[in-house]
Amino acid sequence: MTNPRTMPDPAADTITVLGLESSCDDTAAAVVRLGPDGPRILSSVVQGQTALHAEFGGVVPEIAARAHVERIDLCVEQALASAGTDLSGIDAIAVTAGPGLIGGVLAGVMCAKGIAAGAGLPLIGVNHLAGHALTPRLTDGLEFPYLMLLVSGGHCQFLIVHSPTRFERLGGTIDDAPGEAFDKTAKLLGLPQPGGPSVEAEARGGDPARFAFPRPLLDRPGCDMSFSGLKTALLRARDQAVAEQGGLTRHDRADLCASFQAAVADVLVEKSRRATETYLQARPDDPVLAVAGGVAANATIRNALEDLCKARGLRFVAPPLNLCTDNAAMIAWAGIERYRLGLVDGLDLSARPRWPLDEHAPALLGSGKKGAKA
Ligand code: KG4
Ligand code: ZN
Repeated sequence: MTNPRTMPDPAADTITVLGLESSCDDTAAAVVRLGPDGPRILSSVVQGQTALHAEFGGVVPEIAARAHVERIDLCVEQALASAGTDLSGIDAIAVTAGPGLIGGVLAGVMCAKGIAAGAGLPLIGVNHLAGHALTPRLTDGLEFPYLMLLVSGGHCQFLIVHSPTRFERLGGTIDDAPGEAFDKTAKLLGLPQPGGPSVEAEARGGDPARFAFPRPLLDRPGCDMSFSGLKTALLRARDQAVAEQGGLTRHDRADLCASFQAAVADVLVEKSRRATETYLQARPDDPVLAVAGGVAANATIRNALEDLCKARGLRFVAPPLNLCTDNAAMIAWAGIERYRLGLVDGLDLSARPRWPLDEHAPALLGSGKKGAKA
């Protein structure tokens, strides 16, 4: 007999979803409720793994997967407890089913299937990138369509978000993500990880015009980007300075960081300008550029994007940083969006290491330190 709880009730006036995230190096669980007054995050638990991977200079997939398996049950317990509920207060389980490191994705999917089967609840597979892309609807109630720049250590792409299930990819990185480039730059200059905040801090007071780093792919039409050449340019500039002067001064390091950051910002702004042109052709009532991902924390990049938005008549929306970076509240929210459309999965839900949001866009090449690009 079918358990009535396994069928969604899209018209319910209150929907409470437990979300699970384990696609990279954060194990996370969260409870989000959509009620008559809008959505509310009842709890959001994130357990990072930075210390486990530190000595390897990047995320080690096997170590990540094992840590997810060990921690995810506890994260779920904590998320339910701090939301003040148990499974009887949950309407559905949403889980990241890809893209990402397959061992980690599997850990989350198996856990979610176990809970769904045991508690007789609907199971909803969520694309991790959809979680990021739909976050501004959770935090700022954005209406469709809006333009999203997803810019993190693992991803970099422009999307027009048309609906909870329709994402139009305008372009993305063909190699490294910008966060990865920041992390590698920090490594080359002996600065601590994660590289983004330390390179940004070092760049303060540096001269962004001293080193003429490349702005890759600006000479080509479209919104695709490339960041892997920047680290080679930075390595050469560093080695040349060391050869000429016998070492690097604090000034040199600050100038290298500032010049690198300026190159990343220039590329992101010019490609964003092109993406807004395409987006504005859809004549949205309330044009918005929203950002997500850890790199959106960078003040130079953020200010440059805000200036672009002012000049082009768009609103700039950046969710709070803890919801820009990997978390499970975004997965629970994306689950609510799917639940409301009656979209649920069976217990045969597959974990997908690659899962492009826009199946019609040409494949992005390459995969970064945090798994497949899309
Ligand atoms: O979104 P996120 O937490 O994780 C994923 O990549 O999934 O992003 C982390 C990335 C790291 O590469 C980190 O160096 C970068 O975001 N990041 C920054 C800044 N803060 C974090 N990059 C530039 N400037 C920052 N202030
Ligand atoms: Zn992410």
